[in-house]
Amino acid sequence: MSDPQHQTTGTGPDLDGTELHHDFDGIRELDNDPPLWFNLLFWGTLVWAIGYALHYHWGPGKLGGDKWKAEMVQLNELKAKNATGPLTEAQLRPLSTNAERIAAGKALYGKVGCAACHGAEGAGLIGPNLRDKYWIYGSNMTEIYDVIANGRGNGTMPAQKNALSSDDMNNLTIYIISLNRAGAIPGKAIDPAREKDNPVNY
Ligand code: HEC
Repeated sequence: MSDPQHQTTGTGPDLDGTELHHDFDGIRELDNDPPLWFNLLFWGTLVWAIGYALHYHWGPGKLGGDKWKAEMVQLNELKAKNATGPLTEAQLRPLSTNAERIAAGKALYGKVGCAACHGAEGAGLIGPNLRDKYWIYGSNMTEIYDVIANGRGNGTMPAQKNALSSDDMNNLTIYIISLNRAGAIPGKAIDPAREKDNPVNY
């Protein structure tokens, strides 16, 4: 720009640049410094691009489809968390680790008399052990819900659907899964022959 071989014309704001000796039909090319606003815009875009890349590509920011997916997951979690009707297996499973639901189920378990037949800690009395891997009626959460709702064994396992709301039964199911995950309790050995069937594998 300040090349001594080139002369500065100095004949007006647009003609201040260094003469480049590129003439064509009387049109001369001059090497003008870009104006400040242009430089600021240029460096600004670079700074912005670095910030953008750091945040969205290597940082916590989520782009388009990923952002949408994350929002849908959140939405479904929220819906499932507040759902009160009978839930699907896919809705129940993520809730099986929800501390509030587990606590609500535990309170009900004692209150409505499950403990009388299955033991205070679910290790089994008249009713079967709920902490082993053996499930008479299946280890899916909807299957457990169905046993609770409709009962089994001609009422030896009493139906709860007229006494409890579906959400109460969801919470009981969630609590039972949490017991089962915790496994055997000291002093209450689990029959090894019963460990082979239908384990809770979620
Ligand atoms: C009067 C005793 C009794 C009460 C009260 C009772 N159960 Fe049961 N429960 C049983 C018996 C007996 C069975 C096994 C039925 C069968 O084999 O057909 C059973 C089975 C079950 C099963 C299925 C276990 C499996 O291996 O598939 C679940 C789950 C269960 N009960 C949960 C509960 C919950 C939750 C409550 C409280 C709402 C409850 N039970 C209350 C006696 C009882």
